Amino acid sequence: MIKRCLFPAAGYGTRFLPATKAMPKEMLPVMAKPLIQYGVEEAVEAGMNIMAIITGRGKRAIEDHFDVSFELEHQIYGTPKEYLLQEIRALINQCTFTYTRQIEMKGLGDAIYKGRVLIGDEPFAVLLADDLCTNEDGDGILSQMVRVFNKYRCSIVAVQEVPMDQVHKYGVVAGKEIDEGLYMIDNMVEKPKADEAPSNLAIIGRYILTPDIFELIEQTEPGKGGEIQITDALMAQAKKGMVIAYKFKGKRFDCGSIDGFVEATNYFYEQSKKQNTKKTEKKSQ
Ligand code: G1P
Repeated sequence: MIKRCLFPAAGYGTRFLPATKAMPKEMLPVMAKPLIQYGVEEAVEAGMNIMAIITGRGKRAIEDHFDVSFELEHQIYGTPKEYLLQEIRALINQCTFTYTRQIEMKGLGDAIYKGRVLIGDEPFAVLLADDLCTNEDGDGILSQMVRVFNKYRCSIVAVQEVPMDQVHKYGVVAGKEIDEGLYMIDNMVEKPKADEAPSNLAIIGRYILTPDIFELIEQTEPGKGGEIQITDALMAQAKKGMVIAYKFKGKRFDCGSIDGFVEATNYFYEQSKKQNTKKTEKKSQ
């Protein structure tokens, strides 16, 4: 059983300045819900109940969000607005939240390594909250990945096909297809140029990692951008054993960019309109 989900959330979110000057980028809302709450909900749906969050300076709002606000609760108690806090209350009751800080930004690999104290010696998930994922036709992305993990018991990365002129933004993988949408990785490059990319299969912010990854990160030299890259540690893991890329079912919005963020907002707005119409139809029946 995978119980823990790690959320690297120490990054500055410079693409959203000035909004992120005093506010964590993970707290930017799509509709009325912060990005990180969508992530926690996805992890809970996949059976996880310990949320391990890597924070940094200026990120206290995340801790406050996953806590009770007595003053606020008291204010809206018994009013028609009380239902607005129902979802977040339910989440808080279902999960334990643990935190540690990444003092210096040394890359995603380093952020994950900092989570070792919160994870211990068991397989765990990693979720990057600015990749907002949803699957209106069934299980969430992490649930799908847990199923793959239960069968293969190795690290899994979620991938999607992207146009070649976009590969430089991602970790890119190549491998042999071993089942529909499942690839045994034999090559992996962090943010390659289009003509150096091994394929157009891009890693998106969902991983399931086996705990030997921590020792591999320790041995990983700084890579692209002078940072410790999880992609490089995973390549080492793939060489030693097996790492699988999983082409997930559903949608993913890059909420680390303005375009993706606006697309996500439009999408969730349309979804909520559809749900409201359904509710009104039900009531009038
Ligand atoms: C990170 C990873 C990259 C991955 C991406 C997914 O990059 O390093 O391999 O494809 O997340 O969102 P970042 O977007 O943090 O630069």
